[in-house]
Amino acid sequence: MKVTAIAPSNIAFIKYWGKKDEKLRLPTNGSISMNLSNLFTTTTVEFNESFKQDEALINKGKNTEAKNRVINHIDIIRKMARISTHVKIVSKNNFPIGTGLSSSASGFAALTVAATKAAGLNLSEKELTIVARQGSGSACRSIPDGFVEWVEGDTSDTSYAVSLFPDNYWNLIDVVALVSQEKKDISSTEGQRKVASSPFFKERLNHIDRKIKLCQQFLKTKNFSALGQLVENEALEMHAIMMTSSPPLLYWLPSTLFLMKMVKKWRAAGLEVYFTINTGQDVHLIIEEKNRSELITLLKKEPIVKKIIINQPAQGAQIVKNHLF
Ligand code: DP6
Repeated sequence: MKVTAIAPSNIAFIKYWGKKDEKLRLPTNGSISMNLSNLFTTTTVEFNESFKQDEALINKGKNTEAKNRVINHIDIIRKMARISTHVKIVSKNNFPIGTGLSSSASGFAALTVAATKAAGLNLSEKELTIVARQGSGSACRSIPDGFVEWVEGDTSDTSYAVSLFPDNYWNLIDVVALVSQEKKDISSTEGQRKVASSPFFKERLNHIDRKIKLCQQFLKTKNFSALGQLVENEALEMHAIMMTSSPPLLYWLPSTLFLMKMVKKWRAAGLEVYFTINTGQDVHLIIEEKNRSELITLLKKEPIVKKIIINQPAQGAQIVKNHLF
């Protein structure tokens, strides 16, 4: 059977950075994110008895590491479905991969939804998030709609994602300012292995549950100022842990820092905008819809901004009719 799915990337307001079980991808803390309407992956999967071997074409490339990770995920799904049939996968993103725009989130969410269905499984949303999580942690948050919480959990069955609010709940805008197409040299998976070496990590775990509760509350009350401050503080806290891990991880470029400073300046001048950054150099700017065009005008004046991607809150992963092969 051939199935195609589309899934959005997501931006974490409260970040996932650290695992307590590497293989199952059980996180050291829960996280909260928003699905992004303009950063997505489309994936077609077919299991067919006539295939002689597994084939995976990801963004037209021959990246063996990416292919192996995808086939490992397919093996989890084949085991669940009790099949050994070979697979063909074609997957494409509408944005550059490996630069910190969370392509593994949209990628493994789309793969999970398409492959489980193609393998004959009929999973609930919760079960899909549990499977997606094992491919890439952040992928579980790309399955439910809108604003999503990944509940930490202690076992595979209790670590899942759930929608807090649908995509049409609040028209928050995430403007991604791309400052370089440079690929990150340390992946999120690799970077997270160092997390416990930061002296600040224990302290983070002491107060992270409080931050999660605050994030839920600010979303519930649509308190943009409080949410923005929390989101910015959270990004800085995660990057402080990255920078103080050993060996240290520094994902920013001079242009990243320049934009962070500009955000502060724009805010002082009356434009309420906040930043967050993942494992990469690009900056996500969070703003209310009413101020979006003012921000875009300002960004277009900055030569270091190479490209802008405007995102609204999006639905989670969906099955679609148009196949890629
Ligand atoms: C900084 O989900 O990419 O974007 O589970 O190893 O695939 P793996 O890690 P991944 O890490 C995401 C890290 C982050 C924060 C976040 O999205 O919560």
